[in-house]
Amino acid sequence: MERFYITTPIYYVNAKPHLGHAYTTIIADTMKRFQQMMGKETFFLTGTDEHGDKIVQAADKNKCTPQEYVDQISQLFKDLWPELGICNDHFVRTTDVAHKKVVQDVLQKVYDSGDIYFGEYGGHYCYGCERFYTEKELEDGLCPQHQTKPEYIAEKNYFFKMSKYQDWLKQHILDNPEFIRPERYRKEVLSLLDSGELEDLCISRPKSRLEWGVELPFDNNFVTYVWFDALLNYVSALDYPEGENFKKFWPAVQHIVAKDILKPHAIFWPTMLKAAGFEPYNNLNVHGYWLVNDTKMSKSLGNVVAPLDMAKKYGNDTFRFFLLRDMHFGNDASFSEEALAMRQNAELANDLGNLFSRVLSMVKKYFGGVVPQPAEYTEADMELRELASNSCKNFQQLFDNVRFSYGIESLWELVRALNKYVDSSQPWTLAKEGDTARLGTVMYTMLECMRKVALHLWPVMPESAEKLVAQLGLDFDPLTANLPAEVEAWGTLPVGIEIAPGSNLFPRVDIDKLRKEIEEAAKAAKAAEKAAKKEAAPAQEVAEPIEFDDFTKVDLRVGKVLVVEDHPKADRLFRCEVDLGEEKPRQILAGLKEHFTAEDLLGRQVVVVANLKPRKIRGLESHGMMLALKTAEGMEMLTASGEVPAGTKAS
Ligand code: MSP
Repeated sequence: MERFYITTPIYYVNAKPHLGHAYTTIIADTMKRFQQMMGKETFFLTGTDEHGDKIVQAADKNKCTPQEYVDQISQLFKDLWPELGICNDHFVRTTDVAHKKVVQDVLQKVYDSGDIYFGEYGGHYCYGCERFYTEKELEDGLCPQHQTKPEYIAEKNYFFKMSKYQDWLKQHILDNPEFIRPERYRKEVLSLLDSGELEDLCISRPKSRLEWGVELPFDNNFVTYVWFDALLNYVSALDYPEGENFKKFWPAVQHIVAKDILKPHAIFWPTMLKAAGFEPYNNLNVHGYWLVNDTKMSKSLGNVVAPLDMAKKYGNDTFRFFLLRDMHFGNDASFSEEALAMRQNAELANDLGNLFSRVLSMVKKYFGGVVPQPAEYTEADMELRELASNSCKNFQQLFDNVRFSYGIESLWELVRALNKYVDSSQPWTLAKEGDTARLGTVMYTMLECMRKVALHLWPVMPESAEKLVAQLGLDFDPLTANLPAEVEAWGTLPVGIEIAPGSNLFPRVDIDKLRKEIEEAAKAAKAAEKAAKKEAAPAQEVAEPIEFDDFTKVDLRVGKVLVVEDHPKADRLFRCEVDLGEEKPRQILAGLKEHFTAEDLLGRQVVVVANLKPRKIRGLESHGMMLALKTAEGMEMLTASGEVPAGTKAS
């Protein structure tokens, strides 16, 4: 029996599960179910990544030990998956004793083979990212992710000779076009490998700086770098080296990750595997990001989507259907509740729901709810059968290649064709004319095609698919449902069995009402946020006294904002041009986007620190700084009480 092993990233426990985590895990669940129906023996792994600085900081903040903290958050993930209808076979934690042992065993193996060495390293360490940056990777001296200045740290550490495997990796990717997919990410990795020499990977952290990790087996003054530890979950969870599962499922593995962790999975992981003597994984499937209101989800923007809320409101199946349907695997997509409700209405209630409810009630009306005997098939029937066959075939190929949205689309071609077929074959006229033989053929053709639709839907919408299959009077077992055979199969639905008298699985959502609800909820959330901020606003202590001379060094001028644009490379910054009465307006970069729109600022009088040394931020120079006031509600601009000429000096 062919084997199929599917993994999600193991999620960090420094944040609660959100839509992004749910999406990856739902995909993995869908793929497991799909491959099960394709006749494969499957294993589906997810889990949590629990070591590193961030965890220690989060635990400190929560006033508990790292272990207590990771136990608590890991449990949130573990509990969420079954609630979303996800059936993982195992849940791995990097704090599991068995996992830690595997990390140590593999480290020892690689060390013994000479691919780990001790050396000195100086690098720019960003605590937010928990990683070193090279000079080249920094943007104007700042961390490209956090825009903060990293700390330069020089220390002795252990290194994995990743550079040694650069040529092998490149060749492997070239020889195996599906190794990293979709293509754009494969290209990204190839161009990274082409852009210069791969550096060796620093795989240890001195205990003086970090204790919360797996101790190196050959030097107990160090713990393992989180990525070297975390990636090994994919084999430790199979009970490497002696476990049955390891023997069965490695390397029949497909990893799913988002683009944020492409490099560790496409470069660190295969070279680690090679050095440790494992076969490389089969495929790395890389998806894009879910954006909410077109921006990244972030706690501070308050746009984090809690997956359970949506799933509870619309049902797990609609939620899954929407996620798989609206994101083209590999690209980013925008999440909104309204878009979800529209899909529910158009594709589930109108197309699929309508089809089942119409056909089942007709069978009830014309044949007493019993599957009729088909007579002779006409050309139109044969065309529909052909379409059903193609639609199943395409669905299967596309799902096999992680192209879920297109796969669903090809199934919907059949659903829509079936609705048209009802209209064109006019069963009500056949009934009126008493043409029972033709009526029976039409009904049977429909029911048999609907059976195929319901079966193929199971990986995407398990609960609904099972209900639909049951409405067709059949038992459902994913292990015996044979999808490949469905491409050609005809006549599987037994004549004479009783089916449900009707179907109403997908209710319509009132979109106008929903829009109002969303608006109200946004207003209420804003008001609550305002109130909370007011309450939480800390009393600001006055800073240390300074000399009058020091104060006079600061040249404050009133200016007028003439231009406000987005900074082309920094999401949070505006690029402004401010008239200070000089020969030409000055370019000033301002991190005000969270609180102001361009219109808010345009034409305003602002107070500018005019003699601040120019500073380059992501490629553009800022010549001064506009002053703003932080308030409990957000921010206000500092300004003059009346209109004054541009360039007027404050004193
Ligand atoms: N712990 C590491 C992974 C180690 S795997 C050996 C990690 N954890 S994470 O909690 O940050 O999870 C990142 C993953 O969560 C992404 O790769 C993706 O699977 C999922 N997502 C997080 N946010 C996402 C979106 N906004 N959109 C889609 N998926 C995203 O990185």
